[in-house]
Amino acid sequence: MDSITQPGTYRLGDRQVRRIGYGAMQLAGPGVFGPPRDPEAARRVLREAVAGGVNHIDTSDFYGPHLTNRLIRDALSPYPDDLVIVTKVGARRGEDASWLPAFSPAEIVQAVHDNLRNLGLSAMEVVNLRCMFAVHGPAEGSVAPQLEALAGLQRQGLVRHIGLSNATPRQVAEARGICAIACVQNLYNLAHRDDDALIDELARDGIAYVPFFPLGGFQPLQSAALASVAEEVGATAMQVALAWLLRRSPNILLIPGTSSPAHLRENLDAGALVLPAGAMARLDGIGRG
Ligand SMILES: NC(=O)c1ccc[n+]([C@@H]2O[C@H](COP(=O)([O-])OP(=O)(O)OC[C@H]3O[C@@H](n4cnc5c(N)ncnc54)[C@H](OP(=O)(O)O)[C@@H]3O)[C@@H](O)[C@H]2O)c1
Repeated sequence: MDSITQPGTYRLGDRQVRRIGYGAMQLAGPGVFGPPRDPEAARRVLREAVAGGVNHIDTSDFYGPHLTNRLIRDALSPYPDDLVIVTKVGARRGEDASWLPAFSPAEIVQAVHDNLRNLGLSAMEVVNLRCMFAVHGPAEGSVAPQLEALAGLQRQGLVRHIGLSNATPRQVAEARGICAIACVQNLYNLAHRDDDALIDELARDGIAYVPFFPLGGFQPLQSAALASVAEEVGATAMQVALAWLLRRSPNILLIPGTSSPAHLRENLDAGALVLPAGAMARLDGIGRG
């Protein structure tokens, strides 16, 4: 049995995807800017992810920019029928690699067209609105104009499902009053637990929650409790961090990012890891400490 079938699947829009997917952000060059050192190696990681059972890939046209989507198209198109590619819109890159808002309704529409062209798709399965009231974290502000722009593209058949990213609970509530929300993609991991209540609320309503930085992102998770559980269960710390997320709530879909085939395999194998109740309790304590 493929190890990643073990944690099962969850609904994303109207598709069932495996709970361990893949985040493509690490495939671009340093700082998520410019081409990777070895583009063929990047394409190989994508092919190995799909061969390993991944059917949910998270990307954006602002990775590279544009280059990551083109790598995905080159590596995987024509796409397998069951593959769900999720993108984000709302930001753009400056010439100095900075992350800037591109959050007007017109920019949102343009970004969806850019994603479609660079991925070689006629419709996006899921587009997340990446809230950009503050660049690097959630901040309040109405998302109605941007969601109305996405809903217009949905009526044209260019976007099948809409999600939110970097969103506050209030923005999620506002969005759910405007259109159906397929998923929420926010910063969450063992050490960053701000969304605990939101995850439970979304789980009750059958909406996927997709944590970004599941391994800590640019600053990999480090904790004595994590290291000791990893030793006890005979796994790596990163595998334990992923297994904890899988067990945290059934609506969590993972998108760990890696440019390394060895790390990819390790992350996929985390689906088979069983965490005893005592280990879960110690891990739970990390984010509450
Ligand atoms: N919505 C948003 O605002 C937002 C923001 C950030 C990210 N994202 C999405 O979320 C995805 C995941 O986030 P992320 O990639 O930034 O962070 P992450 O998955 O938490 O961690 C990625 C880092 O961990 C390393 N890594 C991966 N697997 C490992 C393993 N088994 N052992 C040791 N190191 C490992 C990677 O390096 P190697 O390449 O060397 O493996 C990379 O440095 C992204 O790919 C992107 O699709 C969304």
